[in-house]
Amino acid sequence: MCGIIGILGKHQVSPQLVEGLRRLEYRGYDSAGVATVDDTGRLARRRAVGKLVNLSDRLVLDPLEGHAGIGHTRWATHGAATEGNAHPHNYGSVAVVHNGIIENFRDLRAELASLGIEAQTDTDTETVALLTGHHMAQGLAPLQAVRATLERLRGAFALAFLFEGERDLMIGARRGSPLALGHGNGEMFLGSDAIALAPFTDRITYLEDGDHAVLTRAGAAVYDANGQPVSREPVRIDVGSTAIDKGGYRHFMAKEIAQQPAVLGDALNHYVKDGRIVLPDSIDFRGVERLTLVGCGTAYYAACVAKYWFERLAGIPCDVDVASEFRYREPPLSPRAWAIFVSQSGETADTLAALHYCKGKVARTVGVVNVGTSAIARDADIALPTLAGVEVGVASTKAFTCQLAVLAVLALKAAQDRGALEDRTLAAHLDDLLAVPGLVQQAVGASDDCRRLAEWLAEAQDVLFLGRGALYPIALEGALKLKEISYIHAEGYASGELKHGPIALIDRNVPVIVVAPSDGLFEKTLSNMQEVMARQGQVLLVSDGAGIAAGGEGTHATLTMPGGGGVFAPIIHAVPMQLLAYHTAVAKGTDVDQPRNLAKSVTVE
Ligand code: AGP
Repeated sequence: MCGIIGILGKHQVSPQLVEGLRRLEYRGYDSAGVATVDDTGRLARRRAVGKLVNLSDRLVLDPLEGHAGIGHTRWATHGAATEGNAHPHNYGSVAVVHNGIIENFRDLRAELASLGIEAQTDTDTETVALLTGHHMAQGLAPLQAVRATLERLRGAFALAFLFEGERDLMIGARRGSPLALGHGNGEMFLGSDAIALAPFTDRITYLEDGDHAVLTRAGAAVYDANGQPVSREPVRIDVGSTAIDKGGYRHFMAKEIAQQPAVLGDALNHYVKDGRIVLPDSIDFRGVERLTLVGCGTAYYAACVAKYWFERLAGIPCDVDVASEFRYREPPLSPRAWAIFVSQSGETADTLAALHYCKGKVARTVGVVNVGTSAIARDADIALPTLAGVEVGVASTKAFTCQLAVLAVLALKAAQDRGALEDRTLAAHLDDLLAVPGLVQQAVGASDDCRRLAEWLAEAQDVLFLGRGALYPIALEGALKLKEISYIHAEGYASGELKHGPIALIDRNVPVIVVAPSDGLFEKTLSNMQEVMARQGQVLLVSDGAGIAAGGEGTHATLTMPGGGGVFAPIIHAVPMQLLAYHTAVAKGTDVDQPRNLAKSVTVE
């Protein structure tokens, strides 16, 4: 999703803006631009479609001078990815960059048109520049003009403003979308996240929802949603933890898949010490009537897996919802229920809105988040970090398995609190969970096998993924991963559901990936697999050694995973799904880390 950087610096700012934007690339974008105010006070901008290198090239041919500037990576929402629609947008004395959606831009645009101020682009953002420029033309000072504009805006936004003639002024504002201030030594910065700001400073202030901030090189004055001055304490970030290098791997995704044994180990060591589950005291599931789990995309699938664990291990009824559906369905909630929000970024607009919907309606809101400083982490009653570290690849891998690990710990805690399992059964499950990082290490070792299988998958137009029980969401995740980065159409189905329709799709050209460890449901899945093979379906069976021995005959191929993990085997089986998608995408030559049309952090509805 769009990324923002702003700098009031000591040096020529264009290269620094591009550096900041480079660190925002992971969010996903399709055009980029910068604007600066030079030493004469002149405001100018450069923009380019496509990768950041196109903007850098433009700046080489047509440099921008100045020590103050704003920059933007745009993920198109309103209007195609063209240079004209790229940010910064400029009108009169103001330039603006924006992340989010101005929902009432059509009304505002019509109003401005009636004043003779015509929009030149297809974007919602331009309206912000038009309004602010108009207010300034009427004599308002920059801050007053921005405030007058903010009052008129509906929707979600993070905004950064730069002004003609103002070499030491930048204004930032946020409602819904994230924005942070960076404090330098005689310099000030604005950024969408700590990753963008890390090259410049380790002292960051996260703006609260509704805040706006006036920045000069001497510091920042922050005002809340009511326009009252407020103090927002800066925090020190661990710059090392924001490092975004590929560590010798060809892609971030490959690195992040390989990191899983280590980060899963970190997460489990954090939550399980000396064989005991360690969670905040307020996590006590006694008396909890029902759980609602909410997320989007991969995070939603993590929630779907966890539903099996919460229900089976702890006996708590559990609803799982896609955040975008949940928030508008307005489900009735019990004051004795808990709601759990799963999110890598912690900024996903729908998940955040779902959390806000639940506040005050349920007994407790819990965020299972990777970015500890995110809005969901801040707004949930309890935030549980997933400790996967910075995830750069748009296709989520290590964040997913760490979400599963934390949710598994929560499910075991629920079982313990409610006395749902005998002590030794609980201990056995905990042992199974603690074995997962080592087993994931073995699963990662199947990379070469997956590379060979990817040559076959890369030829396919459609791929089906089948799973049963807690492996069904893993099948869904496998299909999502393949779609996201290889652009091959893929669907995940519950194995038992196949003959209720999707079996009509089966022919020799549709690879069918069956993910089925040899658990209590294995025989049933095997029957479904036979139904596929009887119709000439080409099956890849992903299972443990025992499963392959029992069911591998007659399949097109098999992929052997380590056995073990008990009910937590889905975490292990997520890995081959990631590896198959990764190698298929590499075989097809797609942009693995920044697949087309996708954003890492979806901060609009
Ligand atoms: C996963 O590969 C995706 N790119 C996407 O589905 C993602 O999981 C979803 O947008 C939710 O993001 P979040 O975890 O940051 O909330």
